[in-house]
Amino acid sequence: MIKVRKAVLNDIDRVYELVNQYAGEELLLPRTRDSLIINIQSIFVAEEAGEVLGVASLAILGQDLAEIRSLAVDKKAQGRGIGKILVEKIIEETKKLGIPKLISLTYQVVFFEKCGFTVINKEEMPQKVWTDCIHCPKFPACDEIAMAISL
Ligand SMILES: CC(C)(COP(=O)(O)OP(=O)(O)OC[C@H]1O[C@@H](n2cnc3c(N)ncnc32)[C@H](O)[C@@H]1OP(=O)(O)O)[C@@H](O)C(=O)NCCC(=O)NCCS
Repeated sequence: MIKVRKAVLNDIDRVYELVNQYAGEELLLPRTRDSLIINIQSIFVAEEAGEVLGVASLAILGQDLAEIRSLAVDKKAQGRGIGKILVEKIIEETKKLGIPKLISLTYQVVFFEKCGFTVINKEEMPQKVWTDCIHCPKFPACDEIAMAISL
């Protein structure tokens, strides 16, 4: 049975491994151990029989906007609904905070459509572009697709 819970410090090595494996494939942005530790309160893990199989984090970009980041499911556990469960958890947390919109910058358009997101123009999220994107190695030639869900 899959259980989603907040990450604790003991999870950091595993989360680091999951995220940076996909960063190596340029599917996710890399995260340092320090960035994971500092942001631990916003990281959720999916666990089965004591093994962490997936991770997702929630970044608040402003009072009206949050972003799902570092979504990763272990290759051996993909296709079992774990990614969707993690996105649902991030949606639930975003709603609890009273934030009306959640975005994702992704290459996984079909997956996010199945989670209720639709494709938007990057220009629709100026907070993201001006607070984060300008510091990103992909800026300004980012080929990730912007997607959003209204909550
Ligand atoms: C994208 C990712 C998180 C999906 O996780 P997952 O646990 O395999 O996905 P799920 O099993 O929850 O899939 C939910 C639905 O999306 C579909 N789906 C998942 N990945 C898909 C893909 N790459 N292309 C098309 N459909 C996909 C599934 O078939 C399923 O459809 P269904 O509800 O009709 O059965 C996972 O493949 C992953 O970690 N990828 C590498 C890192 C990455 O790209 N992260 C996203 C960055 S924003």
